[in-house]
Amino acid sequence: MAGLLAGHIAAVTGGGSGIGQGICQAYAREGARVVVLDVNLEGANETIGLIAAAGGKASAVALDVTDRAACKAAAADIAKGGNVSVLVNNAGINRRNPITGDPAAVAKDWDDILGINLDGVFNVTHAFLEQLRATRGRIVNIGSIQSFVHASWPNSAAYTTSKHGVLGFTRALAAELGKDGVRVNAIGPGLIETRINAAARANNPDMVAAVMRHTPLNRTGKPEDVAGPAVFLASDMSSYVTGCIIMADGGFRTL
Ligand SMILES: NC(=O)c1ccc[n+]([C@@H]2O[C@H](COP(=O)([O-])OP(=O)(O)OC[C@H]3O[C@@H](n4cnc5c(N)ncnc54)[C@H](O)[C@@H]3O)[C@@H](O)[C@H]2O)c1
Repeated sequence: MAGLLAGHIAAVTGGGSGIGQGICQAYAREGARVVVLDVNLEGANETIGLIAAAGGKASAVALDVTDRAACKAAAADIAKGGNVSVLVNNAGINRRNPITGDPAAVAKDWDDILGINLDGVFNVTHAFLEQLRATRGRIVNIGSIQSFVHASWPNSAAYTTSKHGVLGFTRALAAELGKDGVRVNAIGPGLIETRINAAARANNPDMVAAVMRHTPLNRTGKPEDVAGPAVFLASDMSSYVTGCIIMADGGFRTL
């Protein structure tokens, strides 16, 4: 039986770890040819190995999303094998430090986090824009609970700002690209067990407890909890859905 993404070429940034790796695997299972883009080529290669072992098709490209020229070059190169019709902007980092801390460190956090989490989303989207318009494609941006709120995660002004920006970019592009048949949506994961928060989960049980008090499903998430919505948003199952954010957060904002 053909999968939900048969015939699609899907590019996933940050596909070498965590949520991105889970999305790559799910897309391949649904029949997409997956291009794993990551600054960490070792991680990207791990993902394509997992996909190949499961009988799927994938390739890996080393890409730093902050390098605008490299994004353009990678997109042009990938297009030689066919146009990308699904783009997932997933690459991201986080650091939690008070804005009142050492000024140089605060400024560096700001530049690094905004550079990857927000400028990076623009760089990659802009690089693939013509391919996505040509294919009437789909963009899936990874936001966060911090696209809306901040309370359970203090000391992360830059990250909160970047994820609010991702949601704003999602809505702006949905409005602008709808006429081209390009759908643009976001996913807001809750606390998902990945490398990005491994130290915080290990060293800060109070943070985990605070999040769980807001999580009706009463568990942390796994990458596959985000991969399901990502398949939905990339597939024709969501053909009339654009400009929205699907929260994959165990119900965080209901409590
Ligand atoms: N894990 C969570 O609880 C959670 C919650 C909400 C949102 N998110 C978001 O999900 C996304 C994925 O995070 P994750 O939890 O899987 O973390 P992760 O650290 O496991 O994966 C992030 C990936 O992004 C890649 N990356 C980092 N900088 C890059 C760059 N400059 N260019 C290209 N690739 C780069 C890393 O190499 C890594 O493979 C991020 O945008 C993160 O903000 C995560």
